[in-house]
Amino acid sequence: MNSVDRPPRDHPLRVALLGCGVVGTEVARRLTRDADELARRVGVPLELVAIAVRDVARERDLDVPAELFTDDAEALVRSGDLDIVIEVLGGIEPAGDLIRAALDHGASVVTANKALLADQGADLFAVAEKAERDLSFEAAIAGAIPIVRPLRESLAGDRVSRVLGIVNGTTNYILDQMSTLGQSFDEALAEAQRLGYAEADPTADVDGHDAAAKAALLAGLAFHTNLTLDDVHCEGIRSVTAEAVRSASEMGSVVKLLAICEQIETPDGPAVSARVHPAMVPLSHPLASVRGAFNAVFVESEAAGQLMFYGPGAGGAPTASAVLGDVVSVARNRVSDVFGPGETSHADVELVPIGRARTQYHLVVDVDDRAGVLATIAQEFARFGVSIRTLRQEGHDSDAQLVIVTHEAEDESLAATVEGLRGLDVVRGVSSVMRVEGGQ
Ligand code: NDP
Ligand code: HSE
Repeated sequence: MNSVDRPPRDHPLRVALLGCGVVGTEVARRLTRDADELARRVGVPLELVAIAVRDVARERDLDVPAELFTDDAEALVRSGDLDIVIEVLGGIEPAGDLIRAALDHGASVVTANKALLADQGADLFAVAEKAERDLSFEAAIAGAIPIVRPLRESLAGDRVSRVLGIVNGTTNYILDQMSTLGQSFDEALAEAQRLGYAEADPTADVDGHDAAAKAALLAGLAFHTNLTLDDVHCEGIRSVTAEAVRSASEMGSVVKLLAICEQIETPDGPAVSARVHPAMVPLSHPLASVRGAFNAVFVESEAAGQLMFYGPGAGGAPTASAVLGDVVSVARNRVSDVFGPGETSHADVELVPIGRARTQYHLVVDVDDRAGVLATIAQEFARFGVSIRTLRQEGHDSDAQLVIVTHEAEDESLAATVEGLRGLDVVRGVSSVMRVEGGQ
């Protein structure tokens, strides 16, 4: 008998939803609308028994009985009467304590909360393991894009060496507008806010914190270790100028906010670098073609080679797709009385500080256009062991600019070079410094 023919069994799994905002509303809508089909896929019905919110009196665009709503999430998760709890409240607390209580009282948990997992993931996974329950989080990284399961399960037998991700749609939209329409950062941000991509307070997106939380989770999955937000070096996009975006375009690149997780071999063994910063990406790289508010994650591994995962990284329905995928998966486990693959965080790897991370750099140096200037500049690069790969001069006399791309160098050597350049008489200023990723 195949799954379509299998009649649903008659003991439903009791599901509670914590949060009914952008994501929760879509999850509740689909859980109720698709109840029959989901029951066939799981083997038993999924019964939505309660929805915890802050304000039970609020009008909601959702056709479910009013009695389902409660403002007492704590009593709900401590009832001991739930099979699955879906946490889409957001924030650190009370979300963390509610998940712990739900697991302790016998429920499996599905969450979309990257901020919480990047803060307390190790503890929450330990609680889940002790309780012998699932804690799934596919929606926490890049919305609808399946990336948690591929890293945790499909690539579990391979050696991942690098993950490069565009994991924040708001910043990708802003940088794309700057690149294609020549807008300034402020103009593109205002447009992102008008369209509802960016929040009124855009800090978490434009300063890179949202991407950094996702980078911590990606690095943990890819390298079988535990990272928190504090382990991720984070630079946002506020300092990206229209000139830097134009300069990138002139050298056949685009500027992207990248989450980069790399395993690096050091004399003391493997080490991990996790960082978020704007970078120039050559147009030949698949990530360069990720436009608008879309997300993508590019994975490099020893046996599989290069893999790219692409799609919508946010929004109610796309995120609900990932949440419901997890719900079906943990529900199947409940039916079989098992719990799924936990986190493998056995690897005790060192963190590479940002100063030791290696990449290429693009610099724009404003100089006097006269004899000996180039030699003086080149000498400063040589002093710190940074090798120049290409150099182009634009303008002349008092308006000359050198556009320099380096070979791979350590971040701290490059920073020392820039400091040195700024101290030279022949240099009027260093107007742009940006890393270059994804090149040869
Ligand atoms: P919203 O702000 O739209 O919704 C939050 C919901 O949680 C609201 O229903 C709110 O109640 C409820 N809530 C908040 N605090 C409490 C509390 N203390 N007790 C009870 N209820 C509470 O958030 P989103 O739906 O946008 O995001 C939810 C989660 O999903 C977050 O972790 C987010 O990072 C993640 N996520 C979101 C994406 C998106 O595109 N929005 C994409 C990927 C992940 P009330 O309605 O009464 O105010
Ligand atoms: N604010 C995020 C983004 C979505 O712009 O991609 C939630 O992580």
